[in-house]
Amino acid sequence: MLELGQGEQVLDIGCGTGMNFPLLQERVGPTGFVIGVDRSASMLAQARRRASREKWDNVILIQADATTMQPAGIAAEVTRAGGRARSDVAMATYALSLMQPWECAWETMRELTTASARLGVLDMQRPTGLSAVFTPLAKAACRLGGADIEAHPWTAVERDCTEIRADSVRGGHLQIRVGTT
Ligand SMILES: C[S@@+](CC[C@H](N)C(=O)[O-])C[C@H]1O[C@@H](n2cnc3c(N)ncnc32)[C@H](O)[C@@H]1O
Repeated sequence: MLELGQGEQVLDIGCGTGMNFPLLQERVGPTGFVIGVDRSASMLAQARRRASREKWDNVILIQADATTMQPAGIAAEVTRAGGRARSDVAMATYALSLMQPWECAWETMRELTTASARLGVLDMQRPTGLSAVFTPLAKAACRLGGADIEAHPWTAVERDCTEIRADSVRGGHLQIRVGTT
């Protein structure tokens, strides 16, 4: 949905162990960059191992709290590592709902992207319709993982972007929004 192209730079906020990286790498290719930001050193260590195992030399990993990080500082770190100050695409999957306040991380995502960038958020809510029966399970899973099921961070994409593309899976539990700034 993000329509990533060869040579583009993508910023993955709350990247964790880099589970998104294989798909991102496939899209941006060796001339692009994947920038992963996470506050957890152990998650980043796993992401680093993944990048080195796959021999991706265009992955830049930065340890930072996305709710308090300074965009200028992050941009400087990225350029020092060979990347570009602003990314063409920024995304957060299963991540903003863990951040308090997630709006600060969202604003930083916007500041670290180019004009006409694509931004994407995938996050969780209570299942809807017939799947509402699974709500206690979904709430328990979110609580266990430290996510706020009522955060609904994709609403920021709807508010701040144009050309919104939307999807949902698992009975509405997973909400996906992509838009252009
Ligand atoms: C559920 S994992 C999702 C990882 C990855 N995005 C994925 O889809 O597999 C959430 C990640 O967000 C990170 N995280 C939580 N709060 C954060 C914050 N304030 N700043 C940066 N990363 C944060 C956690 O360390 C964790 O790696």
